[in-house]
Amino acid sequence: MKKEMPSWLESAIFYQIYPQSYNDTNGDGIGDIKGIHEKLDYIQQLGVNAIWINPCFESPFKDAGYDVSNYYKVAPRYGTNADLEELIKESNSRGIRVILDLVPGHTSMDHAWFQESQKAERNQYTDWYIWNDSVWADQEPGLNITRGYAERNASYIANFFYFQPALNYGFAHPDPDKPWQQPVSAPGPQAVIQEIKHIIAFWLERGASGFRVDMASSLVKRDPGKIETGKIWQDIRAWMSEHYPEAVLIAEWGVPAQALQSGFHVDMLLGGYHNPGLTSLFRKRGIGMHRDPYGWSFFDEAGHGDITQFVDEYTQQLEQTQALGYMGIITGNHDEHPRIADGKSMEMMKLVYLFLLTMPGTPFIYYGDEIGMTYVHGLASKEGGYERTGVRTPMQWQDSLNAGFSTGSPEKLYLPVSESYPAVNVANQLADPSSLFNTVRHLISIRKSHPALQAESAFSVVHAQAGELPFVYQRTRADETYLVALNPSRNEVHYTFKLEHNPKEISSLFAQNGAFRLVDNQMTLDLGLVSGLLVKLSS
Ligand code: NOJ
Ligand code: CA
Repeated sequence: MKKEMPSWLESAIFYQIYPQSYNDTNGDGIGDIKGIHEKLDYIQQLGVNAIWINPCFESPFKDAGYDVSNYYKVAPRYGTNADLEELIKESNSRGIRVILDLVPGHTSMDHAWFQESQKAERNQYTDWYIWNDSVWADQEPGLNITRGYAERNASYIANFFYFQPALNYGFAHPDPDKPWQQPVSAPGPQAVIQEIKHIIAFWLERGASGFRVDMASSLVKRDPGKIETGKIWQDIRAWMSEHYPEAVLIAEWGVPAQALQSGFHVDMLLGGYHNPGLTSLFRKRGIGMHRDPYGWSFFDEAGHGDITQFVDEYTQQLEQTQALGYMGIITGNHDEHPRIADGKSMEMMKLVYLFLLTMPGTPFIYYGDEIGMTYVHGLASKEGGYERTGVRTPMQWQDSLNAGFSTGSPEKLYLPVSESYPAVNVANQLADPSSLFNTVRHLISIRKSHPALQAESAFSVVHAQAGELPFVYQRTRADETYLVALNPSRNEVHYTFKLEHNPKEISSLFAQNGAFRLVDNQMTLDLGLVSGLLVKLSS
């Protein structure tokens, strides 16, 4: 076990819930906290032991809640603080941890702090945001300056969309000619850091088990190598380890070595330019927000994918991070598009989960991906979603009005339900023992009952070659080795290799269209079309 890691993290499997689209209990067309509560049986049945809820705090919802106007208050459309506390309590009693979404880099323009900060008269919040010293000043390269909003004669810097003004954590190397660029040690940034700790403590005291941290690397401006931003997180981590040793910090950073050096327990692998190898696994060229520079996905029936793009990147990152924390492979999230099931058969999706649930680190399953929901094309942008909107449609519970998501009238729904719902829904899949849901559930239970398959155990590649299948790797702990073989292609493949030791016992834990033969020390994997194996060897 790594130093100072929350004890539950090693076996954690996360399920991400976009609250507005999960389950609506009052018919207003928007999912709510009580809706999540009502589905805890389902979540427990799936077997995940942690959920991450996208921001559920008061907000004008111009960016789906990533524009917070009060960090201490649940958005009325989702319910009350008491509802959230109840949900956390009930989840915890079922062995399910609850992670909230912390947005430390910016607030909504509607936030009272920003409204005070933009005033001409100096006040407590004047330096909580980044303002230059004249509304007429030139643009700043690399910073997103908006002119003409404030009463004070200054422009503010936004972090993402224009309505998300950046909180002031200072500049790594303030320009001496521009005194408005403050060092991290200035009173404004220090007050902001204190406030962030206060928010963290507030929700941890109410039972939350930690946070997914939005744009975690964005805090300090013009911070090459993220050195100063890293120091802030190291300080927050040290403070948390002392007061809340079982709480977790999970970064949206995308550079695991940097994020974990900075004190995060987990960094999510996001695809895109930071982790192109991850994109090469799941998302084909030309469809995603981040174009895949490598061409074919590995999980594609054509079998043109090249697993070495992922393996080279991943093994290097694993080496850099292994002493520090975990990486999180995600099926998707509310930003990543299309959904992972797009262009994949249910059989292929089962292989995806065989992979996800036997890899090191902490796996993340995005709601709906456990039943193979797909991207909805052609939707008007909702709450700043743009292309992301199509991965945010309501959860498909059953083949009835609004797919069982809401009793409201269909025009009132947060987003329309995907037309796929009569075929792809929870009720169907619960009833079918060979469904994707039941396969995911089975693989989750295997991971939970075999520590060798969890976050920490050793990972080594047995066979990963460009232009060749299968991909074979193993996970090892003490005298147990677990062999995973994947053949996503529509071709049969056979692979023979020599085991180091003759195993005392050998058993198949999972097989799809494949089998193994062991003769002396020679292991042969016979892999049919779109096939996978999970074999346990004890020595
Ligand atoms: C990352 C979040 O995941 C995304 O949805 C949001 O728009 C930006 N950060 C800005 O907070
Ligand atoms: Ca509702």
